[in-house]
Amino acid sequence: MSRKNKTLGEFIIENQTSFQYSSGELSRLINSIRLAAKVVNHQVNKAGLVDITGAAGETNIQGEAQQKLDVIANETFISTLTHRNIVCGIASEENDDFITIEGQAEDHKNKYVLLMDPLDGSSNIDVNVSVGTIFSIYRRVTPAGTPVTLDDFLQPGRDQVAAGYIIYGTSTMLVYTTGHGVNGFTLNPAIGTFYLSHPRMQFPEVGSIYSVNEGNYVHFPAGVKKYIKYCQEEGEGRPYTSRYIGSLVSDIHRNMIKGGIYMYPKSSQATKGKLRLLYECNPMALIVEQAGGKASDGFTRILDIKPRELHERVPFFCGSKLMVKKAEEFMSQY
Ligand code: AHG
Ligand code: MN
Ligand code: MN
Repeated sequence: MSRKNKTLGEFIIENQTSFQYSSGELSRLINSIRLAAKVVNHQVNKAGLVDITGAAGETNIQGEAQQKLDVIANETFISTLTHRNIVCGIASEENDDFITIEGQAEDHKNKYVLLMDPLDGSSNIDVNVSVGTIFSIYRRVTPAGTPVTLDDFLQPGRDQVAAGYIIYGTSTMLVYTTGHGVNGFTLNPAIGTFYLSHPRMQFPEVGSIYSVNEGNYVHFPAGVKKYIKYCQEEGEGRPYTSRYIGSLVSDIHRNMIKGGIYMYPKSSQATKGKLRLLYECNPMALIVEQAGGKASDGFTRILDIKPRELHERVPFFCGSKLMVKKAEEFMSQY
């Protein structure tokens, strides 16, 4: 029976039996993410009031300046998951190497590894614009009871067991999939409860929004330049409108609701693109596909790429199916 005020907690319990290997472990993991999301949300909401905006003074392995909230969000997710003995390993944008969850031997019996971008769009923090968290979950491939290895993290995106994001926006939402469609939950901040507000989210097959950092135009490959011109020309439903927040989570969330394409192509300056395959593109690609959209690197399905390293970058095109197909046509033609 469906009702309008279903909470995330109730939804998790009701759907537990639909998981392939249902032992309650994945449900507990999603519950821990729900808790960490509320803590980070509380921090993000206070950003202008306490001294947590601005740079933390360190750079991460990608050479990017860490913001204080990057560090806070990273620590919140890691400590929430570690204290609950809920995963056997964690990889994060903000950590050079993956983390093995130590403790009693029992701990290594956990089946799941989690990869995350703890705070996405961090250049938006200081200006009060939406940011997010992205997460990706796999079953480990090495035997339970042993420490995790890099192989547990370098799995192709199609093997993800679950993926999702939290958007700290005008309202805070948690959107996730376990491979049975995409559902979105909105936080009622007064009582700290997520409610199912966006059941079975679906990308419109075609939309009228294109999202790309056009400041990089001169550095883009010819196919991308031609596709952008196509978006701007008059034609059926065109010119499209241009919307770019600079936070992958927010840009894709909007395009999923309204219909559109998001692109972060490679450029002559960043020959592999900017976005990270494991904790940005793969989880968003699973969500996009589960919502009826398409995600590719311009030529190949993102979820079929075999990762070679933890912080690997990849060009990213995702969104409404027919729009991404069109962009791929331009890529292969030019
Ligand atoms: P992060 O804050 O985790 O480093 O990610 C920022 C990413 C992504 O969210 C966004 O779409 C993109 O970087 C924006 O990059 P540009 O500023 O180069 O457009
Ligand atoms: Mn990011
Ligand atoms: Mn980040």
